[in-house]
Amino acid sequence: MASFGFIGIGNMGGAIAIAAAKAHDPGDILVSAGHPERAAAFARQHGMVASTNEEIARDCKFVILGVKPQFMASVLGALKPILEVRTDCVLVTMAAGMTMQRIANLVGGGYPVIRIMPNTPARIGLGVIQYDWNDRCQKADVEEFLAAMGAAGTLSHLPERLIDAGSAVSGSGPAFAAMFIEALADGGVICGLPRATALEYAARTLIGTAELMLQSGDHPGKMKDAVCSPGGSTIQGVRALEKGGFRSAVTEAVVKTWEKNKEFAK
Ligand SMILES: NC(=O)c1ccc[n+]([C@@H]2O[C@H](COP(=O)([O-])OP(=O)(O)OC[C@H]3O[C@@H](n4cnc5c(N)ncnc54)[C@H](OP(=O)(O)O)[C@@H]3O)[C@@H](O)[C@H]2O)c1
Repeated sequence: MASFGFIGIGNMGGAIAIAAAKAHDPGDILVSAGHPERAAAFARQHGMVASTNEEIARDCKFVILGVKPQFMASVLGALKPILEVRTDCVLVTMAAGMTMQRIANLVGGGYPVIRIMPNTPARIGLGVIQYDWNDRCQKADVEEFLAAMGAAGTLSHLPERLIDAGSAVSGSGPAFAAMFIEALADGGVICGLPRATALEYAARTLIGTAELMLQSGDHPGKMKDAVCSPGGSTIQGVRALEKGGFRSAVTEAVVKTWEKNKEFAK
């Protein structure tokens, strides 16, 4: 029996598979995709084994579902006859807004399920991965899975009722952060910086500021004040952000995302 099987190796499933291959023998990781040639190319590139949904459902201990939520019912429905007779495997879902109970129901009910909510920086080991598990899981299985996820980034246990909220901050956050980086760089380009230089400065400024906050434990308000001299230029930039509703827009982005996640869950 193989240890890990990824059904769906797109932006997120692929990132998690790459992280798993850092902690675990890639030759023990099976991957499948909607287009078999994509699974074959991905497997070749990362030393994994190209497979099919059916083979993964039959042979892997951890069956990791990396398909979009709207395809989950058809993918799991087709695998139900294989999965419902297995007692030695755990389903892992990363689907936004889908509860563990809903996933278990798609294969006939009482099934061990681990739910993770990763984000795309997992690809380079800097992800945030929230997780929870249902009461059908063995503690040792959860620990084995988490050990393989260690190379993906920061693992954080979060009760399932809060995962939609966590997802709105860190799961979707890379989109919001990337928009901020792009906008910061656009400003630099308007002021005459070459595009590539402006993008690098903007990205490195976000990394540095985030790391400084985590290492110092300082509140972001204090960090903002440390850059704003009285009568200076940065406070004029802060004024422009406030006038443009920057903070309110970001907060609303998270709340709207959370509401949509909860809508998926219905
Ligand atoms: N993207 C994110 O930042 C993010 C963050 C947190 C959670 N998630 C969750 O991660 C999951 C995947 O999202 P994604 O963004 O990675 O989607 P994606 O990039 O579109 O990847 C989807 C993957 O599913 C495969 N697939 C489609 N139909 C399939 C089938 N019938 N059998 C096997 N594989 C099939 C696709 O293969 P082909 O390419 O060959 O069609 C592709 O590898 C979703 O549930 C999403 O909610 C995503």
